[in-house]
Amino acid sequence: MPNAATISKGILKPHFEIKGLSNLSGDVEVSGAKNSALVLMTASLLTEEVISLNNVPELTDIKGMGEILLAMGVELRQSPSSLELCAKNLKNSEPPYELVNGLRASFFCIGPLLGKLGQAKIPLPGGCRIGARPVIEHIKGLKALGAIVTVEHGVVSASVPGTAKKLRGSAIVLDCPSVGATETILMAAVLASGKTTIENAAQEPEVQDLANMLNKMGASISGAGGPTITINGVEKLNGCSYNVIPDRIEAGTFLIAAAITRSTLRIKSVFPDHLSSVLQKLRDCGCAIEIDEDSITIIPGDINGVDITTQPFPGFPTDLQAPFMALLATAKGTSVVTEKIYENRMQHVAELQRMGASIRVQGNSAVIEGIPQLSAAPVTGGDLRSTAAMVLAGLAAKGTSKVEGLNHLDRGYAELEVKLNSVGGQIQRLP
Ligand code: UD1
Repeated sequence: MPNAATISKGILKPHFEIKGLSNLSGDVEVSGAKNSALVLMTASLLTEEVISLNNVPELTDIKGMGEILLAMGVELRQSPSSLELCAKNLKNSEPPYELVNGLRASFFCIGPLLGKLGQAKIPLPGGCRIGARPVIEHIKGLKALGAIVTVEHGVVSASVPGTAKKLRGSAIVLDCPSVGATETILMAAVLASGKTTIENAAQEPEVQDLANMLNKMGASISGAGGPTITINGVEKLNGCSYNVIPDRIEAGTFLIAAAITRSTLRIKSVFPDHLSSVLQKLRDCGCAIEIDEDSITIIPGDINGVDITTQPFPGFPTDLQAPFMALLATAKGTSVVTEKIYENRMQHVAELQRMGASIRVQGNSAVIEGIPQLSAAPVTGGDLRSTAAMVLAGLAAKGTSKVEGLNHLDRGYAELEVKLNSVGGQIQRLP
């Protein structure tokens, strides 16, 4: 039976109904990292041998990337949480626009295609709701490696001149530590002749994960995880079997779910080191944190306001800004959240306000006056992480919330409602 909010909008969209005032308890398991798995899938283009990826999350973005690779001639075999990819019959260096459109990470194909085939033609990923998200640093890096790159009619065409079609190593300094640009350059440089250095490289764990897998394939990369990465080009890469790292953003989302419901939870299959800045902010809020080798237990106390500024890793991740703001909306006192990575990542504020939150936005900062209790409302997440924020707010609110935006959520969270319900959440997915 559609509820009043659905009828008044006249459109029935997939949504969650979330009974609030949840009390969560128990253990919850984290899946493999979306942002790692996506880029590791494209790295399979660099070898004719089989890449077996384990701990791959079941997400619509992963499915989308699979379809793009399939369209280029990559053979794919999928079983629960693992994926075998073989690019020995790679036939096409132009992923089709219809598949690429809507999956930003598809642009990652450009580096390995150039390195392997000497050419690539990829539609520009375009902006998205959270900001413009240019790819100029990717393109500058590829040009520095000797590629000729043009952008016309929304398509990036890149080719390597000369009969050998081989990129050549170069010293590259990034203007900003872009995760995607660092990954693109890494994948292009592994098969280039000579040495490449990337300075001001992104230090995110997903970059380290990519470098680790490429090294397992026979590449020679050092320094990943720090600001300077050195790549000595090799002739050929092999297949390998590789475990994707745990998703630190999913883990952070569960930690915040515990904090916002004032519940004790154990988050399993995580790398605690990847969450240091988030754990520090949770401690600052008043949560006790117990860390084991691959699990984190959070025991929330009274939650107090804290200030947060998003930063490149190891700073506080922009992808947890919206979920953390939902928590701060329920904290004692005032918090200031400043978004430094994206220019338009405050859209969740209006939705949190619908649930009673007291938040003022000033440019890229939000001033949050915590209130004792959010109240349920129909809300819509406008992007992946803001939808997650709405789910967390719904768990804590008084009453039953309706959360739309599941098309975004399913891009990046594997069965979020199933996992939250297994620890006491009351979330129903409705078509
Ligand atoms: C990746 C993540 C995304 C996360 C982001 C920042 C994937 C698939 N996605 O996105 O979830 O939010 O890192 O941690 O891994 N920039 C430029 N010029 C460029 C490239 C980037 O100015 O050429 C700017 C962007 O506008 C943005 C900032 O750099 O302000 C960070 O972008 P980047 O690190 O490139 O993010 P992505 O790799 O797209």
